[in-house]
Amino acid sequence: TLSYHIAVAIENIRLYTENRKIEEKMRRADRLASLGTLAAGMAHEIKNPLVSLKTFTQLLPERYRDREFREDFSKLAGQEVDRINNLVERLLNFARPVEPEFRLLDLGEVMDDTLLLLRNKIADQKITVRKDFTDRYLELEGDREKLKQVFLNIIINALDSMREEGVLTIDGRMIRNHNSGEIGVHRGLDWKLHRLYSRDRVMVKISDTGEGIDPRDLPYLFDPFFTTKDTGAGLGLAIAHNIIEEHGGITDVESVVGRGTTFTITLPLKEEGKRQKEKGKMGSREWGVGSSPEGAKQSTEVKRLLRSVAS
Ligand SMILES: Nc1ncnc2c1ncn2[C@@H]1O[C@H](COP(=O)(O)OP(=O)(O)OP(=O)(O)O)[C@@H](O)[C@H]1O
Ligand SMILES: [Mg+2]
Repeated sequence: TLSYHIAVAIENIRLYTENRKIEEKMRRADRLASLGTLAAGMAHEIKNPLVSLKTFTQLLPERYRDREFREDFSKLAGQEVDRINNLVERLLNFARPVEPEFRLLDLGEVMDDTLLLLRNKIADQKITVRKDFTDRYLELEGDREKLKQVFLNIIINALDSMREEGVLTIDGRMIRNHNSGEIGVHRGLDWKLHRLYSRDRVMVKISDTGEGIDPRDLPYLFDPFFTTKDTGAGLGLAIAHNIIEEHGGITDVESVVGRGTTFTITLPLKEEGKRQKEKGKMGSREWGVGSSPEGAKQSTEVKRLLRSVAS
C-alpha cells in the first residue's frame, strides 16, 4: 500500500541521516586521535629549522662584517623559513582541511594535469609512463585541486621508490555495480566500503616497479609523520588518505619488496540519472559552489602561526 511505501521511505531517510551523523562523528574522532601524534611530530619537525635560525641570529651581531657569513645567513634563513612554512601549510590543511569544493570533473584530465607537473622529474629519472584510462570519461563530483594533490603525493612516492628506468603504470576504469574488487590494506569503515562497492565507481591504480614496502610498514603508511625517507615529512599519504575519505572513497595498497607497489583509489561515480541531467551544465565548468577566498585566508593563518611559533 501507499502508506507502507511512505513508511519505508521515511525509515530510509532516517537511517541515511543517522549514518551520515555517525560517519561525521567517526571522522572527527579519527582526526582528534591523530592530533596528539600530529602535535608531537610538528614540534619535532619545526624545531630543527628553528634551532639553526636561532644559532645564525645569535651569531649575526659579531659576524656581521663577515661577507661569507652574511651570504650563508640569508640563503639558509630563507630555506629554513620555507621549510617551516611548507610544513605548517600542509599541517593546517591536514588538521583543519579546507572544505572541498565539489564540482563535476573528469578524472583523466586531473591525472593529465598531475603528470604534466611531474614531467621533468619523470624525464630525469628516465621513467616510462603507461597510462590507460580505458573509459573516456571518468566523471565524478570532486575537488579538482585536492584530487590532484592525491595523485601528486602517490606518484611522487612511486617515483621516489624507483631509481632509474622504472615503469609507472596508471590505470583508470569504471566499475559497474556489485563487481567486487580486491581489498588489501584499507582504512575506513566496513559499511562505508560496502556502500561504495554497491554502486558505480571509478578505480585508479597507480603502480611502480620500485623497491616495494616492508610488510611491517604497511599498517603505518597512512599515519601522519610515518616516513622512511631522510628528507620526508611523512605527510603525503596521510593527506591523500584524508582527501579520498572526504570524497567517500577508499585507498588501498599492495606491495612486494623488490618488485613494486600498487596504490588503488576507488571513488564513487556520479550516479547515472544525475549524470545525464547535468550534462548540459558541464561545459562551462561553473557548476557547483562558487570559489571561496579560502586560499588567501589560509596563508594569513600560516603567517600568524609562524609568527607565534617564532616568538
Ligand atoms: N610507492 C612506494 N614505494 C615504496 N614505499 C612507499 C611508496 N609510497 C609510500 N611509501 C612509504 O611510505 C612512507 C610514507 O609516505 P608519505 O608520502 O606519507 O611520506 P614521505 O613520502 O616519506 O614524505 P612526504 O610525502 O611528506 O614528503 C614513505 O616514507 C615510504 O617509506
Ligand atoms: Mg610522499
